[in-house]
Amino acid sequence: MTKRNDMFSNDSGQPRVSSPGDGRWLFFTKFLKRGKVIASFAPSSRFMVRTLLKGIDFEKCRCIVELGAGTGPITQELIRRASPTCRLVIVEIDPDLAAHLRRRFPGVDVVEADAADLDHILDERGIDRVDHILSGLPLPSIPEEVRERILDVAARRLIEGGSFRQLTVMPLVYYRLYRRYFQAVRFKFVPLNLPPGGVYVCQEFHGPTGRRATPRRRRWGFWRWQRFPRHGVDRADT
Ligand SMILES: C[S@@+](CC[C@H](N)C(=O)[O-])C[C@H]1O[C@@H](n2cnc3c(N)ncnc32)[C@H](O)[C@@H]1O
Repeated sequence: MTKRNDMFSNDSGQPRVSSPGDGRWLFFTKFLKRGKVIASFAPSSRFMVRTLLKGIDFEKCRCIVELGAGTGPITQELIRRASPTCRLVIVEIDPDLAAHLRRRFPGVDVVEADAADLDHILDERGIDRVDHILSGLPLPSIPEEVRERILDVAARRLIEGGSFRQLTVMPLVYYRLYRRYFQAVRFKFVPLNLPPGGVYVCQEFHGPTGRRATPRRRRWGFWRWQRFPRHGVDRADT
């Protein structure tokens, strides 16, 4: 377990006690305590989840990895849609949230770990390649070298035609960040989420380029989508 995980344990080293229900309250209290790591005050809506998974051919998938699963709105839908032969690997750094996921989805491979250890996690399971990586990680706030490691591993492990899909609650603001790593980036806006957000669908990793990671005029981020006509914005099918 990495050092960063220690922050999430109580004094006795045990995960803190979870809350009942679908984990909304747990998620919210986590957000109050560690806003930067949790990055959103509510779990993803079903519209966000639907948009994230849109276009995935679940019949063909052999392995899907979810990074930063939180209370499991995406996990739940993955379990529902994935074929029995598809391996699901669910990674969550927070021990309370990981414990919640294990209780909520018994039998599912929930790994309490830092997504930065993805190589190790996959090696341990004898997994070589992955069809899709779905990320709820607060990537923009993760230190650059760690972020690069995560994206580098993701790119190396994806099958040809696979995708790295990233949730966001700051629509388009970090478009350039993902374009630094991937040749093809599409953004799908999801208005019906709290707060409104979207999904980046990234393919064709080309490694980090020297381009700026964040827009020069952040405050105009949302309205400047017209500057990316080649890739465009899909309104989510919600
Ligand atoms: C915005 S929440 C997304 C939760 C869930 N996927 C959803 O859509 O509701 C981000 C999640 O990423 C987890 N996380 C943050 N940094 C992580 C890391 N380095 N490795 C694994 N999980 C991480 C947080 O604990 C939190 O549960």
